[in-house]
Amino acid sequence: MKFTKLITAICTLGATFAGVSCQSQQEDYGWLKNGIDTSVSQLLSTSKEIEGTGKMPRSIWVGYDLDFLGWQLDIDPMTIKDSLRAQPSADRLGHRRLCDIYDWTSGFFPGSLWYAYELTGNSELQTEASKFTNLLNPIRYYKGTHDLGFMMNCSYGNALRLSPNDTIPAVLTETADNLCSRFDEGIGAIRSWDFGTWNFPVIIDNMMNLDLLFEAAKLTGDSKYLEVAKRHADKTMSCHFRPDRTSWHVVSYNNDGTVECRQTFQGKNDDSAWARGQAWGVYGYTACYRQFKDEKYLDFACSIADMIMSKVTTEDAIPYWDYDAPADERTPRDASAAAVTASALFELSTFAKDGQKYFDYAEKILKSLSSSDYLAEPGTNEGFILKHSVGSLHHGSEIDVPLNYADYYYLEAIQRYMNLKNLKYNKL
Ligand code: GLY
Repeated sequence: MKFTKLITAICTLGATFAGVSCQSQQEDYGWLKNGIDTSVSQLLSTSKEIEGTGKMPRSIWVGYDLDFLGWQLDIDPMTIKDSLRAQPSADRLGHRRLCDIYDWTSGFFPGSLWYAYELTGNSELQTEASKFTNLLNPIRYYKGTHDLGFMMNCSYGNALRLSPNDTIPAVLTETADNLCSRFDEGIGAIRSWDFGTWNFPVIIDNMMNLDLLFEAAKLTGDSKYLEVAKRHADKTMSCHFRPDRTSWHVVSYNNDGTVECRQTFQGKNDDSAWARGQAWGVYGYTACYRQFKDEKYLDFACSIADMIMSKVTTEDAIPYWDYDAPADERTPRDASAAAVTASALFELSTFAKDGQKYFDYAEKILKSLSSSDYLAEPGTNEGFILKHSVGSLHHGSEIDVPLNYADYYYLEAIQRYMNLKNLKYNKL
């Protein structure tokens, strides 16, 4: 106690003479320490529990209620094709849902372990992070999705930053080549999915995979990765956004590059603003500005951020799963969209002229996510860190559950926050 008073006095004195603020040291960061400690405990217990399965933790199995879906989607529940939705068997309900390495979310658990290691320096986390990252090695040969960036950059990309070895650059570069193989010159975009009846579907989420291309350009010095990324970002900028800066989820193109259709796959309806899609957009264009330093990306990222801040009306800044869903206390929140937004806005705050407003908003989100409303009690929540996200309400899937990507972007947001505030874990 005496020591704290002494530090406070020194800070006040220093601030008086130097004209600077010692705010960081004086603030109570118990909430942040609790968020990190909870994360470490949840991640380590999960890694032990799934050891040897060859799988990754994805979410929790839940069912759904047709009337509830009808209400949220604003449609007659009788028109919902229930047969298209999987109801987990009773013995699975409430238990951890694992996924294999070809799932689009497979990189997030190793990535979370890496961030937790970076935050704390705990070597047990490093060991587990390496182990789970290595499971993903076969993905370097996979070309079946655009999600390669999520899968490999969140895992191997963080491994390269925090525990480099000679083999990682080749893994990342081969994966980036496979992502580029999905780029169509005539259309000017990377194809997202190979399923469905669309001619050439591109989803807003695809902006998140460009970071892998930026990494490959850095590793090889080859500008082809940047050209693909830039063309994809520009095509998406011109075709995916509405005048109010909300985005469509899916845009499919004809072979001549004209738009075949604009739809949703996971949102409320084709013209609604699906919360996570808005978050992917602001994150993606902030990353484009970091890479290309072209003001058009910065202006675009700021305008998406401003749209999010004006349209998310919840007190705690955690959005409903879709901005256009009927809203009352039963409407599910999407903590994953909030975590992605917080991480993006911390980075955006370092580029934008009026960056403080983005920092403040991101800090508000981070504090909300770190409260008991969203942060799990250690030992609960099937080992996940955050509660209350939505995977795909439209498909009756993962409604109001933890999601591995909510956890990943929460930890990334914490890391960015601590860097910006110059905070160290052992001083919290
Ligand atoms: N990329 C799929 C999703 O955001 O749910």
